[in-house]
Amino acid sequence: MIRAQCEVLSTRRSGSYYALTLVAPEIAEHARPGQFVEIAVPEGREIMLRRPFSIHQASRRGGWAGTLEVVFDVVGRGTAWLAEAKQHDTLDVIGPLGRSFQVPQGPASCLLVGGGYGAAPLYFLAEELRARGKEVHMIIGARDHERVFKPVEGKRLAHSLVMTTEDGSMGERGRVTDFLGPMIERTRAQVVYACGPNAMLRAVAEHARARSIPCQVAVEERMACGLGVCWTCVVPVLARDGRGWWNVRACTEGPVFNGARIWWDRWLGPGEALPVPPAEESGEPEDALAGEDADG
Ligand SMILES: Cc1cc2nc3c(=O)[nH]c(=O)nc-3n(C[C@H](O)[C@H](O)[C@H](O)COP(=O)(O)OP(=O)(O)OC[C@H]3O[C@@H](n4cnc5c(N)ncnc54)[C@H](O)[C@@H]3O)c2cc1C
Ligand code: FES
Repeated sequence: MIRAQCEVLSTRRSGSYYALTLVAPEIAEHARPGQFVEIAVPEGREIMLRRPFSIHQASRRGGWAGTLEVVFDVVGRGTAWLAEAKQHDTLDVIGPLGRSFQVPQGPASCLLVGGGYGAAPLYFLAEELRARGKEVHMIIGARDHERVFKPVEGKRLAHSLVMTTEDGSMGERGRVTDFLGPMIERTRAQVVYACGPNAMLRAVAEHARARSIPCQVAVEERMACGLGVCWTCVVPVLARDGRGWWNVRACTEGPVFNGARIWWDRWLGPGEALPVPPAEESGEPEDALAGEDADG
């Protein structure tokens, strides 16, 4: 984990999001897909906590070598402040943080499912999967076409791509989960990766579990420290045999988890067709976690 004062190379619009590119050679060097950075926003009692953002790109080669890119939606004061960052400003950044997505060892058909800005880290993952000879398929979706993140880049990276919008303004009308079942069948997916709103992750994880396909999800939970100290970011995960559960920290044991191990009902509230674990909390978490089923 590195703390660096990073120069802003650019801040630009990407549909309804902002893309922030930073000069961060040390962080970029170590970053893996699924990890995140914590960016400090100005000092002050109201915004004293760093804000977490998934790493969209970490360039180690070529003209952009040593740069790191995050993509964000303006939802509050911290992100509004970041959207105003100017070229040559300096930002205080910690990263790379958390566990990354695991890559299967053998040849595999991989299905990447992204909702809204949640698609951003999946492009980093898609590049890594392609570089390691995997087949990459994507479903990316959002409320409307302005919120579908980088559809052209998706077409370039994926062997096949389905785009969805809830209002039908781009691609198929509907949600990513409406197309998940047919896409899993058509691509013969052996691993599913997902990033996006937590309710979407839950639906993706359940689809995958019903078909016994390993599924890794990158979750978002409120984070105060991002470093494993404060325990504000806990996610309940089930023991492998379903006979116990633990609260684990999304910032250090996550944000990427094995979707089949998250106790979604406890975390997000009641849903349908979810596991029913025992009520007692016990022991230590073993490998809650991503990759154990993905061979990686
Ligand atoms: C591991 C991780 C990766 C993330 N990656 C991205 C990313 O790539 N792009 C992006 O736009 N956002 C991402 N987020 C969410 C982002 O951190 C929050 O949107 C941001 O901290 C909000 O700061 P703010 O000061 O603008 O808003 P605040 O004033 O703090 O909050 C404004 C609204 O956003 C909600 N919010 C704040 N933090 C979170 C959070 N962690 N999860 C969900 N809702 C939140 C609040 O409930 C409130 O409704 C990520 C969060 C985590 C934990
Ligand atoms: S955010 Fe503090 S422990 Fe995870």
